[in-house]
Amino acid sequence: MKKILAMLLCALLIVSCTAALAEKVGVSMPTKDLQRWNQDGDNMKALLEEAGYEVDLQFANNDVATQLNQVQTMIDEDCAVVVIAAIEGSSLGAALDAAGAKGVKVIAYDRLLMDNENVDYYATFDNYMVGTVQGTFVKDALDLDNAEGPFNVEFTAGDPGDNNAGFFFNGAMDVLKPYIEEGKIIVPSGQTEFEQVATPTWKTDVAQARAEDILASNYADGTKLDAWVCSNDSTALGVTNALEANYVGDWPIITGQDCDIQNTKNMIAGKQSMSVFKDTRTLAAQVVKMVGQILSGEEVDVNDTETYNNNVKVVPSFLCEPVFANADNYKELLIDSGYYTEDQLAD
Ligand code: BGC
Repeated sequence: MKKILAMLLCALLIVSCTAALAEKVGVSMPTKDLQRWNQDGDNMKALLEEAGYEVDLQFANNDVATQLNQVQTMIDEDCAVVVIAAIEGSSLGAALDAAGAKGVKVIAYDRLLMDNENVDYYATFDNYMVGTVQGTFVKDALDLDNAEGPFNVEFTAGDPGDNNAGFFFNGAMDVLKPYIEEGKIIVPSGQTEFEQVATPTWKTDVAQARAEDILASNYADGTKLDAWVCSNDSTALGVTNALEANYVGDWPIITGQDCDIQNTKNMIAGKQSMSVFKDTRTLAAQVVKMVGQILSGEEVDVNDTETYNNNVKVVPSFLCEPVFANADNYKELLIDSGYYTEDQLAD
């Protein structure tokens, strides 16, 4: 009996010690509306808990004030590290100041946190490379170096409040601009500047409305559209919807990013030409590793100390590699790797 009691006491002690040791990590995601952020959040929570941390995971409904409140609460409630995918990179200054004052470490997740010194690390995919993969795909698909052209191409970019959006757009534009200058690519809408092609909040219906306007003004007379360069899948979906209802010519090339389920189905159906696969499991695992390294005082793995200047400092970053995806390799990338089940992609 005594032995059992002693063992019970011991077990209790171990449990309470572990509980006391479990450090808390806050994870702030922008929205549940987009598939990728649900995956990012869930992956990170699972991995952090597996590593023994307590996790406070919050989604901010794409509302900046909500995200600011949630991050502030994480800091007030003694999270040791907060991981933030910002809705708008420069609107969390007050919470970041509080983190700095309290010694809470901050990791910018996927999107850089701007205009504040209290951003310790950044983990993302190589955002410029995402854009060059899209631009290079269009260049090759239209055979721009050999074909005579000219080709009609339109552009749709992301949210101006998201630092990534400019990297995606510039990456694609840097590949395609020489052909615009040469006259081999024509942009019938005349909209080639980031500000003109941006999609506030990355929303599908916003991208769709702009695409409908462009189609009505420039293509209703039967003008052929050869390609529409979209920075990501949510905007590609808007453009696809607009084309389905308002365009009768040969289906154009459409680019995307994220391999969202609906867009992958569209690739299989021939409605979207490519996407860029950013395995959220890889990014989440890298961030969990960063959290562990920060909390144990080890050197933190970074592979870029030059690219990501947030207007106050260059934030040490880890860039994961994005991967080209289309109807030919989606099975290997997405199904064989266990990212999706076959059922999820079935119609
Ligand atoms: C992410 C993209 C995503 C977009 C819209 C960007 O910051 O890097 O993967 O498609 O936000 O949520």
